[in-house]
Amino acid sequence: MDAIRVLLLGKTDEIRNKIEEIFYQVDYIMLTGKVATEQDAMMVLANNIIDVLLIDSDLEDDSYDIADRISSEYVEPAIIILENTLLEENIHKAFLIGVRDVLTKPLNPSELMDSIYKANEQIKKRTSLRKENNGKINKKPGRGKIITVYSTKGGAGKTFIAANLAVALAKNKEKKVVLVDLDLDFGNAGLALNVNPKFTILDIVDDIRNIDYEFIESYLTLTTYGIWVLPSGSRLMANEFINMDHIEIILKTLQNAFDYIIVDMPGRIEDIGNPGIILADNLLMVATPDISSIKNVKASLGILSERNYPKTKIKIVINRAGGKEIRNRDIETTLNYSVYAQVKADWKRAASTMNIGVPFILKYPYSTLSKNFKYLAKKIVNPS
Ligand SMILES: Nc1ncnc2c1ncn2[C@@H]1O[C@H](COP(=O)(O)OP(=O)(O)OP(=O)(O)O)[C@@H](O)[C@H]1O
Ligand SMILES: [Mg+2]
Repeated sequence: MDAIRVLLLGKTDEIRNKIEEIFYQVDYIMLTGKVATEQDAMMVLANNIIDVLLIDSDLEDDSYDIADRISSEYVEPAIIILENTLLEENIHKAFLIGVRDVLTKPLNPSELMDSIYKANEQIKKRTSLRKENNGKINKKPGRGKIITVYSTKGGAGKTFIAANLAVALAKNKEKKVVLVDLDLDFGNAGLALNVNPKFTILDIVDDIRNIDYEFIESYLTLTTYGIWVLPSGSRLMANEFINMDHIEIILKTLQNAFDYIIVDMPGRIEDIGNPGIILADNLLMVATPDISSIKNVKASLGILSERNYPKTKIKIVINRAGGKEIRNRDIETTLNYSVYAQVKADWKRAASTMNIGVPFILKYPYSTLSKNFKYLAKKIVNPS
């Protein structure tokens, strides 16, 4: 194995001696250089291949600002910051800039080596993904449309609608469609399409600093149904690890590579500030024709309106329609919105397709429900 090439940006003797002492013990890490200023670090990076850059926090300038400037010049090295104390606000900053890790001093040798090793593994993964994809992906002219499927009531049918709508839109082979599962805790969009993903949204967040329209596709899974999927991860407390800035970067990047980005949201009212909602071109509010669901949607519409969310983006979709419950006309009066589209109830078959992971519209293409999805897709493609 080639040694991992490390550059240290640190000016105190203390940190320099400590790092030398630690690296002396292992042969798979090589200290390629020690510099005391950002400028010198840039110079070394311009002329050498560096895998990992260690930035000490005892510098003239803020180490996170330095990391930010260096990483926008040189995307290759993984950055690890060596801190005196770990503040919450700095962790947030670090994630945003794409700093790989933050370690506190006094340094624990095995922790440092482990962090360097993992950072290097990440770089290798990235490099091989880039090679695989080289030249295959074109930047799309224009900006893809974000269609977000939302409802503050659990079980309204968001995932079912998101998955089937995505497949319906991809019937047009010219269009590239991705389904993004933003239900970070309980997401099952991947399951609904029976995919066994190599990566999840958590992997992208790990690598957020390097994400661009070309590269993001390596993290997506192409399904046999003609659409790509970005599943939510299953790491515990993924929600705390992924922040709103990450989601914004991911969605905006996807807009450069896809025609339609279908977002499956969790059913929570707090999510109203989520980029999945803010950036949506169309916000499909899913309601079922029963009093509790309509009340819920009415409350959400009120909150969206208080936040000045553009009314024109909001589209009411009635799911599991056609029973003897509330009629569309009454729903429209109550919500003061017209119904944009509806999807009929088909209990048994809907549940079975979700369970086996085959989109309903492919399994039962001639059903009323499939026609409903075709109509919905058509309205989205050609808004009148
Ligand atoms: N049109 C429909 N007819 C019959 N059953 C449906 C229909 N739409 C969805 N369902 C069923 O409702 C259940 C919940 O659907 P789904 O998982 O899509 O809801 P959700 O809003 O994503 O839920 P959660 O809030 O848990 O994410 C599923 O079992 C699904 O099969
Ligand atoms: Mg769901």
